[in-house]
Parts: sequence; C-alpha cells; structure tokens
Amino acid sequence: MGAALSPDLAIQRQPRVALSWNDSFLLGFAPMDDTHHEFVDCVAALQRCDEASLPETLAAFERHAVAHFEQEEQWMQRTGFPAAQCHADEHAAVLNSVREVAQMLRDGAACQVARELAEALADWFPGHADYMDAALSHWMSKRTHGGLPVVLRRAMPGLSAAVPDLSLQAGAIR
Ligand SMILES: [Fe+2]
Ligand SMILES: [Fe+2]
Repeated sequence: MGAALSPDLAIQRQPRVALSWNDSFLLGFAPMDDTHHEFVDCVAALQRCDEASLPETLAAFERHAVAHFEQEEQWMQRTGFPAAQCHADEHAAVLNSVREVAQMLRDGAACQVARELAEALADWFPGHADYMDAALSHWMSKRTHGGLPVVLRRAMPGLSAAVPDLSLQAGAIR
C-alpha cells in the first residue's frame, strides 16, 4: 500500500466538474449565445479529453476562440461600440495565454499546463460574459430589434421553489 496522500494533495487530485452550459449564460443576442455555447463545449472538451488528444483539443479551442473573438470585435467596430478596446484587450490576453500553452506543449511540457489553462478559462468565462459580453449583447439587440433582449431562462434544478419554471428577465444595460 502506498503512503496516504496529504490532505492538500488529495484536494488537488480531485477532478473538477467540467464547465457545462446552463441558461444563466444566456445573454439574449442569439448569435452570441450560440457562440458561447460552443465556447463552453470547447472548454469542457479541454477539461475532459485524454492526454493524447490534448494538443488537438487545444488547437480546436484556439480556432474557436479566434473566430469567437473576431466576431465580437467586428460587431463592436461596425457599430461604434464604446469601450471596445478594453474588451478586445481581454480577448487578446486570453489568446496569448492559449498560444503560450500550445507552445509549451510542443516544447514537451506536461499536460498539466493545458489542464490548468482549461480551469482558468472555465473561471474566466462567466465574469467576461456577464460584464463585457452582456453589454455588447444588449447593444447589438437594441440596434437589431430596437429594444433590450428578453431572455427566457429555465429554472436550475436545486434552486429555490420560489423560482418559476420560466422566468422572464430583461437584462439591464451596464
Ligand atoms: Fe464572448
Ligand atoms: Fe468577449
């Protein structure tokens, strides 16, 4: 029998639940919501895939991220969205990290570096979506439809019974 893991190491070895789509991610501008669904799937694949497929899964994530970020940046440029630069800067920082990790893997780094990137992406996405992407979604919806998006979110299992099955929520402009 091997030595028991120290509590700290045991915690580190716990597999984290992969990122999964839920309706709290819906922002109301359908083209963006579709792209974000794909983002979540790409990150989950990076969290779950076996070591042999990590480089290709990371390359697939990079292809997604390039298209995802370019799409949002084109929307901002075409419509004169205010504060576009700080949004684009955040995208650029993420892409830099992805490319650095891809290079580290090519240079023989352990797969752990890509797993840590996947965890960082899973942590980063909700805040970015809630703050920067939500503002852009509202802006695009107002330009397209002349009003704020109405977002239908299914109630999450385990939430209070006070939450109706379908809640009708109109997001506020940040
Ligand atoms: Fe986005
Ligand atoms: Fe974004």
